[in-house]
Amino acid sequence: MAFNKRVKIKELLEKDYIGQEVTLMGWVRTKRSNKNVSFIALNDGSSITNFQIVADPNIINEELLKRATTGACLKIKGKIVASQGAGQQAELNAETIEVLGDADPEKYPLQPKKHSLEFLREIAHLRMRTNTFGAVFRVRHALAFAVHKYFNDKGFFYIHTPIITASDAEGAGETFKVTTLDLKKPPLNEDGSINFKEDFFERETNLTVSGQLEGELAAMGLADIYTFGPTFRAENSNTARHLAEFWMIEPEMAFYDAEDNQNLAEDFLKYVINYALENCKDDLEFLDKRAAEEENAKKADQRSELGLLERLRFVVENEFQRLTYTEAIDILKNSNHNKKKKFQYLVENWGVDLQSEHERYLVEKHFKKPVILTDYPKEIKAFYMRQNDDGKTVAAMDILFPGIGEIVGGSQREERLEKLTQRMEEMHIPTEEMWWYLDTRRFGSTPHAGFGLGFERLVLFVTGMGNIRDVIAFPRTPGHAEF
Ligand code: 4AD
Ligand code: MG
Repeated sequence: MAFNKRVKIKELLEKDYIGQEVTLMGWVRTKRSNKNVSFIALNDGSSITNFQIVADPNIINEELLKRATTGACLKIKGKIVASQGAGQQAELNAETIEVLGDADPEKYPLQPKKHSLEFLREIAHLRMRTNTFGAVFRVRHALAFAVHKYFNDKGFFYIHTPIITASDAEGAGETFKVTTLDLKKPPLNEDGSINFKEDFFERETNLTVSGQLEGELAAMGLADIYTFGPTFRAENSNTARHLAEFWMIEPEMAFYDAEDNQNLAEDFLKYVINYALENCKDDLEFLDKRAAEEENAKKADQRSELGLLERLRFVVENEFQRLTYTEAIDILKNSNHNKKKKFQYLVENWGVDLQSEHERYLVEKHFKKPVILTDYPKEIKAFYMRQNDDGKTVAAMDILFPGIGEIVGGSQREERLEKLTQRMEEMHIPTEEMWWYLDTRRFGSTPHAGFGLGFERLVLFVTGMGNIRDVIAFPRTPGHAEF
């Protein structure tokens, strides 16, 4: 028999195995013993639920049982029987136990007690073995799968856009450089600047901040595409919503206008959230309770009105509120919050960029539902967004979620060559270097649109976790690249 011929606990819970001989492998969560018997709660990662192993010291060597401490990895053979105790339907009567890996209880950092999320972040290499992180990463997987399923079912093609690039798509200049030059003595030009002609790519390169520009090239041939890859931003924002390395989903559709884009984004978000609701019931129920405990520790006026599951259902069942930036500014300017100077950044003039406190006010206090904000001033948005007829705004859309703020950013793209080059020149974006991007407007241009969903912000919303560092396996943030 193959070493890994085992039954997963998830399967044991879903099907009737009573009377069957099985092999289980997994990690000890807890062990309770009395004179006559030991109970081991085993977890194998397939489910939030532990499976109860009953070990009779007359059958299982006592020295062996002593080694079955929290964290140890075991291979157990035995028969599934109906459980005597409350709390589970079935349990396994152990016939043989093999210790695959000991975990010295004096040194193993994870104990059955509750550890803080901050502590667990410091031992991120072990945190997958906790209930919370097991649940988070199973939900994260389900969401990633749902993303691919949604687009595949709709006839979109998955494009792998480059990770190393010479362009800064968002024009924000927050890129990580990619180079093989000797940082101690780089080759210099006569004027003292670095001579990138001698670098690996014979030009300056960086890690991508977005796959959009290449996604647009693909959409101009395949029509409906999406990317789903890692993106990198060297913004020094030490918040609970920012990572230096995060995953982004970016669909790009030929023949879509701004409204089509909004319709797709809303439908897509509802689909993936509903997918998690239907396929991650146990994990979400666990996370719902976890979030409720966290809420209860807050002051009454800071608690959210809905629990996690209620919030997810609410988003799936209700239409998102759509309004323009201009309308949003009016609401914010005239809000009591603004008048009483409760915003850190007061809203006075049309044209200011919205801070996350403003976004969250609109979503959590004013509309109490997800919001799609459109038609932002062109000055605060990227060069590629389609210019509206008013000469002041562009066909942008941001989707704002409760507890998160911005979860999606997108737009209809400027498909008119002249308008695009003019805007690029105004924003000092080198048009010669972007000849390939402009070629799509020179040859067979068409209206098109797309958006980017920050995957970790979605996982944050669906799992009800409070910090983005807790929904990616090994977070990269300023000062942190361990593991
Ligand atoms: O709004 P952004 O910057 O838009 C783009 O990059 C466009 N090129 C997308 C497109 O139209 N194809 O980023 C999109 C989303 C944000 O709404 C946010 O959810 C997420 O990416 N995001 C981050 N997530 C985690 N950490 C960061 N530092 C993030 N920056 C953006
Ligand atoms: Mg944005």
